[in-house]
Amino acid sequence: MSDYILGIESSCDDTSAAVIKDGFLMSNVIAGQQVHKDYGGVVPELASRAHEQNIVPVVSQALAKAGIKPTDLTAIAFTRGPGLLGSLLVGTSFAKALGVALNIPIVMVNHLQGHILADFIKQPEKENMHPSFPYLCLLVSGGNSQIVRVDNPLNYEILGQTIDDAVGEAFDKCSKMMGLGYPGGPIIDKLAKLGDPDRFQFAKPQIPGLDYSFSGVKTSLLYFVRDQLKEDPDFMEKNKEDICASFQKTLIDILLSKLIKAAKQTGIREITIGGGVSANSGLRNRIEEEGRNRGWNTYLPEFKFTTDNAAMIAIAGYFHYLHGERTPLDVAPVSRIADF
Ligand code: KG4
Repeated sequence: MSDYILGIESSCDDTSAAVIKDGFLMSNVIAGQQVHKDYGGVVPELASRAHEQNIVPVVSQALAKAGIKPTDLTAIAFTRGPGLLGSLLVGTSFAKALGVALNIPIVMVNHLQGHILADFIKQPEKENMHPSFPYLCLLVSGGNSQIVRVDNPLNYEILGQTIDDAVGEAFDKCSKMMGLGYPGGPIIDKLAKLGDPDRFQFAKPQIPGLDYSFSGVKTSLLYFVRDQLKEDPDFMEKNKEDICASFQKTLIDILLSKLIKAAKQTGIREITIGGGVSANSGLRNRIEEEGRNRGWNTYLPEFKFTTDNAAMIAIAGYFHYLHGERTPLDVAPVSRIADF
């Protein structure tokens, strides 16, 4: 008999539901939230309210697209955290209620595990390229910048992580500072394609080990733009493509320097990336280039699995389900999770 897992993701500003059948994706529905656009960032209270409105139609659509009834489900996987508490509460409470109504188990998932396992989502009629264990995942999003060693779908070790800002935060904050808009990552990525990545230099951190720091490069850009604008008020407008290309290259250099070090230290050559920033075209090209030069096997998630989605929660939940894990109904969501 087949296992049908419903995944539910509501950690930030995307309400998503997905169905997988024995590891194969049957549907993945995502409702974004336009309400935050005017605020230059996600407003937690508005996000929770939008999740509450979206969750029932999104789950109904996911089931309809998969061609199954609720009673066909085997288990429900949901994001427990990390994320915005009010947003997580909507998905967690919905999963519990549906689990009780259908008398099926619920399985909690760490959102970051979802990103790390996204390469394992199998799609009908598509070749599934996923890394072999152990592998290294460069996990880069608006809230995280980590190098994670993955020994199997349930065991992880954080080898290095940011000691201040996440790389996505650096993209977003610097974009806002340059008056380019939100979210900054995709905007900088687009402008960077038109610019010269070697025109400007920004400070790179000197942090020992495998940890990251992105606050210095942010300040370096801030001072640079401020000083140039004193000389020429149109400097930003005239040079934004080159500034974005140079800034993005600096961030990618920082990310890669530690990833290369981690690969050398561990001897692991299976390399993946995950999280929202893994959509960055410069980072994707660079990972592939380094992979070719260094004999790594590299795996890049499809764009639709880089940002928040329930398909990755369903696949991570499926691994936990197969391992016999069941989550009790008194579970509460958590905004932060220190470790995996
Ligand atoms: O994983 P994600 O959707 O949400 C969490 O942070 O959990 O990541 C969002 C982050 C934002 O900082 C956004 O600017 C960044 O991913 N991002 C990108 C790109 N697309 C999204 N950063 C660089 N280049 C992109 N193309």
